Amino acid sequence: MNYSFSDRVQALKPSAIREIFKYAADPAVISLSAGNPAPEAFPVKEIAEISARILQERPIDALQYSVTEGYVPLRDHLRSYLKEKHNIGREFDSLLITSGAQQVMDLFSKSVLNEGDTVLCEAPSFIGSLNTFRSYRARLRGVPMDPDGMNMDALETALKEEKNVKFIYTIPNFQNPTGITMSAEKRRRMYELAKQYGVLILEDNPYGDIRFAGEHVEAVKSFDEDGIVVYAGTFSKVISPGMRVGYCVAPQEIVQKMVVCKQGEDVHTTIWSQMICHEFMTKYDYEAHLERLRSVYRKKAKVATDAMDEFLGAKIRYLPIEGGLFFWCTLPEGIDAAEFSKQAVMRKVCVVPGNAFLTDDTQPSASFRINYTTPTDENLVKGVRILGELAKDVL
Ligand SMILES: Cc1ncc(COP(=O)(O)O)c(C=O)c1O
Repeated sequence: MNYSFSDRVQALKPSAIREIFKYAADPAVISLSAGNPAPEAFPVKEIAEISARILQERPIDALQYSVTEGYVPLRDHLRSYLKEKHNIGREFDSLLITSGAQQVMDLFSKSVLNEGDTVLCEAPSFIGSLNTFRSYRARLRGVPMDPDGMNMDALETALKEEKNVKFIYTIPNFQNPTGITMSAEKRRRMYELAKQYGVLILEDNPYGDIRFAGEHVEAVKSFDEDGIVVYAGTFSKVISPGMRVGYCVAPQEIVQKMVVCKQGEDVHTTIWSQMICHEFMTKYDYEAHLERLRSVYRKKAKVATDAMDEFLGAKIRYLPIEGGLFFWCTLPEGIDAAEFSKQAVMRKVCVVPGNAFLTDDTQPSASFRINYTTPTDENLVKGVRILGELAKDVL
C-alpha cells in the first residue's frame, strides 16, 4: 500500500536527535539528555493517599466524562492562585486546563496559525513547541539569545521584516535549552514591541517555580492589560509529567476556540489527574512542596557545577543557572556539537546537541544541553567527567 500523507505532516521528519535518544534507553548509557524531573522530587506518598481517597469517596467523579474546560474546583483554585501569587489573569481572560503545556502549544497554534504564518522563536528553543508550530506549516524565524534573553534589536528587525507574524514564542524562565532567564526590562520591551506590531505573545513557563537562586522576575502575562499574551503553565515539572495536567490563561475569545479544538483532540484532560492536582494544591502545603523541590534542585545543580568546574576544562564553557532543569554548554567556535555528541554516546554519555533546538536543525551548533536532574549524583559526576575527557582527547 502506498500511504499518502497530508501536506501538513508530509514534511515532518523524526529529528536527528532521536537517533541519539535511542542510545539513552540503554541502561549502560548515562543519560544527560532527558527533561525529566528528579526522581526524588515526586510527591509519591501524597499522590498515593489522594488517589486512594478519591477512588474510595468519589470514584465516579474521577472516572466519568467531564467538561472540556477542566475540573471546576481546579480551574477556580488556579485562577485565584495565579492572580494572587503572580498577578496573572484579568477580567477578559479565561483559564483552560490542558493535557500538559504541550497541548497549549497545539491548541493555540491550531486556533491562530494559517499555513505560511510566521512564529518568532528564541534561537535555540524547545523542540516540542517548534515541531508543533511546524506541523501547522508555520514559518519559524529564530531570534538570537543574549545572556538576559532574546536580543530585542533582532526581535524588532524580525517584526519589521516578516510580513505574517502571528506570535512571539518565549520561555522566559530558565529557558529550555539554554537555562537563560529574560530580564524584566526585556520582558517589558518585548511586550511593547508585540503591541506596536500587533502580534501575540505565547509565554511558556514550565520552570518558573523551580527558581533556587536569584530574584523572581514577573511574568509577561502579569502586565498584560491589552489581551495579547497567552500564558502556558504546567504541573509537569512541579508534581508529575506523567499525570499530563497543564493550563492556559488567555483572552476568552482565544480560549473559546481552543476549547472547540480540544473537544476534537481529547475531549478533556484526565479528570482523575486534575482532582489529584487540586487536592495536592489545596489540602497539602503546596508552598512547602515547592520549597522542597527547590532545595533538591539547588543541591543537584551544585553537584553538576562542581563536577563541570572540576572536569570540563577550558574547552567547554557552561552558562550558570538560577533554576530549571538544564545547563547549556558550548565548545570552542567552529566545533560541531552534533559530532561531539555522537562521540559522547560512544563513551556511553548522552547529551542533546544544540542544532536540534534550532529553527533550522541542519545548521551547525557549537553547544549542547545537559540535564542534571534525572541521573543519580554519581552518574551525573561520572557523565561530566567523561565529557571532559572526551573534550581533552578530541578537541
Ligand atoms: C519549554 C517547555 N514547554 C513545554 C513543555 C511541555 O511540558 P508538558 O509536560 O506540560 O506538556 C516542556 C517540557 O519539557 C518544556 O520544556
